[in-house]
Amino acid sequence: MSEQEAPLVAVIMGSKSDWETMKHTRDTLEKHGVSHVCRVLSAHRTPQKTAEFVESSVEDGTKVFIAAAGGAAHLAGVVAAHTVLPVLGVPLQAWSLDGLDSLLATVQMPRGIPVGTLSIGKAGAINAALLAISILSIEEPELGKKLWEDRNAQAKAILAEKLE
Ligand code: RP5
Repeated sequence: MSEQEAPLVAVIMGSKSDWETMKHTRDTLEKHGVSHVCRVLSAHRTPQKTAEFVESSVEDGTKVFIAAAGGAAHLAGVVAAHTVLPVLGVPLQAWSLDGLDSLLATVQMPRGIPVGTLSIGKAGAINAALLAISILSIEEPELGKKLWEDRNAQAKAILAEKLE
């Protein structure tokens, strides 16, 4: 794949069971016209393939990684171990503890290997996409304009709220 064809954002999740939440990341990137790829890859179940995917994506020209996982959520950290590009972590609710386990596993990175951690679940999934777009907007001002359109639409919706 040439640099121009590479998706700007790579979205990785630990299991297909994460997709219901991570669809919101995909939808937000699509809404803003940002090229992306979504893959299931696991820090624990496919460690070698995860590393290879990150390294080949960097080589192809991907600019931002989003990594989502639940439970012992090490995926974002593993991605960050293989690139110096921005890595955004989304902690997901898995089988117990309401996602607090995933939040702590994602956010508590050791000094020197940063992961930008978003909030648990759907809000984090959407905000990871918005933050990735925000990072890309440094070099693509058109994306910044789209983000402002979103913000203005949100403000308009709040101001139009009527309480019965
Ligand atoms: C994590 O374990 C995944 O990211 C998922 O959130 C959780 C459960 O995975 P499955 O057992 O549903 O495949 O690795």
